[in-house]
Formats: sequence, C-alpha cells, structure tokens
Amino acid sequence: MPLPGLLVSCYSTPAAAISAQKHKPHDIILASLPKTGTTWLKALLFTIVNRDRFPIDQSPLLTTNPHELVLHLESYVDADLVNPGPGNLPQPEVFSTHLPLHVLPSSMIDSTSKIIYTSRNPLDQFISQREFSLKNRLHPDVEPVPIDQAFDMFCKGVHPFGPFWDHILGYWKASLENPDRVLFLQYEDMKRDAVSHVRKIAKFLGLPFSEEEEKKGLIGEISDLCSFEKLKNLEINKNGHVHHGYFANSSFFRKGEIGDWRNHLSPAMAERMKEVMDAKLSGSG
Ligand code: A3P
Repeated sequence: MPLPGLLVSCYSTPAAAISAQKHKPHDIILASLPKTGTTWLKALLFTIVNRDRFPIDQSPLLTTNPHELVLHLESYVDADLVNPGPGNLPQPEVFSTHLPLHVLPSSMIDSTSKIIYTSRNPLDQFISQREFSLKNRLHPDVEPVPIDQAFDMFCKGVHPFGPFWDHILGYWKASLENPDRVLFLQYEDMKRDAVSHVRKIAKFLGLPFSEEEEKKGLIGEISDLCSFEKLKNLEINKNGHVHHGYFANSSFFRKGEIGDWRNHLSPAMAERMKEVMDAKLSGSG
C-alpha cells in the first residue's frame, strides 16, 4: 500500500453513494487528484461564485478552511462540518471530487454541470502527497513506505484513484470534446498567472466579471485573497483541523512551489517519470 493507505481510508465511498446525494444539474464540480491544487481551487471557486454575497474583507475564507466551504462529494455523506450543508448554499453549489471521470455517476456526466479539473506535474504531486501523508499519519506506529518504493508504485499506477495518467487523460479528453462543460487547468500555469485564470474560470462558469468589477480590481483582490501566502498565514489555517480532525489545516499549505521534487527525487527517478509520461500521455496533446 503506498503512503500507508491514508487516502483509501478517507475517500472510499463508492460512486453509487454520490449519485444518491441529489447532485443538481447546475452544480459546479471541482475534480482533481489529491495535491494538485484542490485547496486553492476551492478557495477561488467559492469566492468567485459567492462574490455578490461576501465582500472580500468579510469572506468566510478568512475564518474557515476552504475544505469546509467546498465539500468533498466522496465524504460529505458523513461530514460533520461547519458548512451549512448541501442544499443550504446559494446556487450554484460547488463540490469537489478526486474520482476519475469514468467513475462519476451518469447523473453528473449527463447533466449540465460545469467541471473544472486541476492537474499538476506528477513529480511535484507525488512529493506533495508524500509530505502530506507523513504529516498526517493515521497509523503513527506503522513505518512509512520508503520513498523509492512509494515512487515505484506511483510510476506503476498504484494509487487510490487509479493511475494518474488515466485520471488526467479522462478529464483532458472530455475538455477537448466538451470545452463548454470541462475546463482543464494546470497548477503551474495558475502559479505563473493567477489573475488571468480567475477571469477565465469566471467566464467558463458563466459568471464573467462586469466592467465595473474589472475596474475596481476585484479580480486581483480575489487572486490575492486566495493566494498561498494569504491563506497559509490565516489563523484558521495555522491551527485548525478538517475531516474530523484527521488533517491539520496547515498541512494543506506546505510550500506551494513549482519544482520542489528536485529537493527529494534523484535525476534517475525524474528520468523514469519522463518515460512513464512519454509512454502514457504522448499523442494526447
Ligand atoms: P505543496 O505540498 O507542493 O506545497 P491539494 O490542495 O490538492 O491538496 O494540493 C496541495 C498543494 O497545493 C500543496 O503543494 C499546497 O502547498 C499547495 N497549495 C495550497 N494552497 C495553495 C494556494 N493558494 N496557491 C498555491 N498553492 C497552494
């Protein structure tokens, strides 16, 4: 089991349970593999969608971790969160999922929901997930899998949500086939230019910024509010916990950098990943 089964034990609710949760056709789904920028996108989506309700300086993000504002489809059945709960938020609601596209219930696939997918360099994703798991050890008495063994499994596609390449390709192809319904984002692009992504996301959701909002600099304000530095340094994210106390809020805000894998993985490991990616993703565009 890579990374002591942490994710399996937390997110194992079958898709059938999701479809039973009365997903509404106009909801917004944030799909991602863990550690690809989910927390960031949750903050951005919540703020963009609710911008008429909450002025930036009164944003719930200032006192609430993003994971409590945008619920996770696989786990909200038994969620005991501060969130008012599905059904009590203004429409459209935003949910997140780590499930691959082909596992989503047809009620969701066939609906008019917008899906936003975030992807990330798998090397950084792997390190981010490993560091997260080491910080939030559910079984501290069990020795963590050595990094080279965990990496070997990751490269072979052993992962709670399936091989990363299948996950990425599923949403990537859907975004090409249905660009109005599926927006495919990359963490690295967002890091380089968050502001233009805020604008792009709002437009994709059918909630474009008005001229007045543009003029008063709302896009920059949203991107600053949701920035790594801002969120990381909020009291709630320094000290709180989410998911029934399993995860320290601070562990969702580690470094927020591109290329941290270089501090952990050897050039040979990077070369191996390149081969995996060439084999699995080449020709996909
Ligand atoms: P690192 O571990 O590389 O720092 P997820 O939210 O999907 O669990 O992903 C977590 C990763 O996103 C972590 O990466 C975390 O630091 C980074 N992250 C969290 N909030 C961010 C933000 N507002 N901007 C950029 N990166 C962020």
